[in-house]
Amino acid sequence: MHGLMVKQRRKLHRVQVEKAPRLGLIRPTPLGFQVTAYLHDGQTPEDYEDVLDKLAHAWRVHCVRLVSWKPGRVTLAATLVDPLDTVAGLEVTADGLLRVRAGLLDNGNAYVIDFRTVPHWLNVGATQSGKSNLANALIKGLAPQPVALVGFDLKGGVEFTPYRARLSALATERSECAALLGDLVGIIKARMALCRQYRVKNIWHPRLPDAIRPIPIVVFVDEMAELFLMADPDNEKEEVAAVATRLLRVAQLGRAFGIYLFVCGQRVGSDLGKGVTALRAQLTGRVCHMVNDDETAKMCLGDMDRRAVAAARQISPDRPGTAVVIGSDSRWHHARSVHVLEEEAEAAAERYAELTPSWALLTGGPAINVNDTAELDEQAVDEFANPDMDEVPV
Ligand SMILES: Nc1ncnc2c1ncn2[C@@H]1O[C@H](COP(=O)(O)OP(=O)(O)OP(=O)(O)O)[C@@H](O)[C@H]1O
Ligand SMILES: [Mg+2]
Repeated sequence: MHGLMVKQRRKLHRVQVEKAPRLGLIRPTPLGFQVTAYLHDGQTPEDYEDVLDKLAHAWRVHCVRLVSWKPGRVTLAATLVDPLDTVAGLEVTADGLLRVRAGLLDNGNAYVIDFRTVPHWLNVGATQSGKSNLANALIKGLAPQPVALVGFDLKGGVEFTPYRARLSALATERSECAALLGDLVGIIKARMALCRQYRVKNIWHPRLPDAIRPIPIVVFVDEMAELFLMADPDNEKEEVAAVATRLLRVAQLGRAFGIYLFVCGQRVGSDLGKGVTALRAQLTGRVCHMVNDDETAKMCLGDMDRRAVAAARQISPDRPGTAVVIGSDSRWHHARSVHVLEEEAEAAAERYAELTPSWALLTGGPAINVNDTAELDEQAVDEFANPDMDEVPV
């Protein structure tokens, strides 16, 4: 057979090829390694954020995160194994006033819920995704601390009744919630008067004598949707509006007056009601467990970081307790809570029952008249909504 020669004419032209970055020294870390990459002209840290997944595959590691940047360079951390697989043997521990170590972050650091730096949290997820587990962890971690715990349990009391011994108040019906929220607004008013008297902007100010510093209150809400949904709009409209307004007031002013919210829900859509979006804006700590729809992940994380939404959608249902979390550093992390059985949280609640301040003590004697105190004028809200927290003792 004769060889066949094919003549071809090709035109070659320059194509843009991605230039490999210059890398700094590879430094080992307990979970893998860190390396600095120098940016080419025109690149930004964002360009790296967008390709971290690809880098993880290329480097054959579990994940790559951008841990910090300076002009012209980014520092990347690669983890070889998933630290979240090692959460099983850990314990939930208190870590200073109003701080709880609830599990692990993907960078191997503790997963800390710190109400002093992030006063209000939104905790969402599909059913069985681990929302209540995280609430249990917080109750276990807060029970030994000098704080008051309050439960709003719109699931008929099944979630928080076991912890009754450590709760200063528990509401299981919406009408009770409205009254309890009215009391909380009343407490805010009383604390506001105290702060005005001492000319301070928040209850943590050193000018306020320790002896009269009010006790912090952590409010747990399970199934937030139930607060807003109306079976019979004609009769329930007013009650829902009162609940929404008061909850928003507590969220706006809670930081200054030591009242903190931990709100759980399967879904948080603006369709739930008018107040939901305004409330969400105040709940700056976000925990998004596995969810069944993009919409919920977006409602929880989308206003903070679009990549966090994509990460949340990849959480596998066979790892309950795993979540995408945005906390004090405003960056998102994968996190997994320690598994805390209801019995464990219940045992902690019983054990520290004597630390429970009575509701009468918190409201300053006889229950505050709800109608009298429910509304706070806008001016008062403006005065204390952004308390100067610089003086907060650590
Ligand atoms: N961090 C975790 N580690 C291991 N297992 C967990 C973890 N968190 C939750 N689970 C398991 O998942 C189950 C469901 O968790 P949980 O009750 O917290 O879900 P939920 O989101 O509150 O669901 P629902 O919306 O139905 O109340 C728990 O019974 C527990 O066995
Ligand atoms: Mg639950």
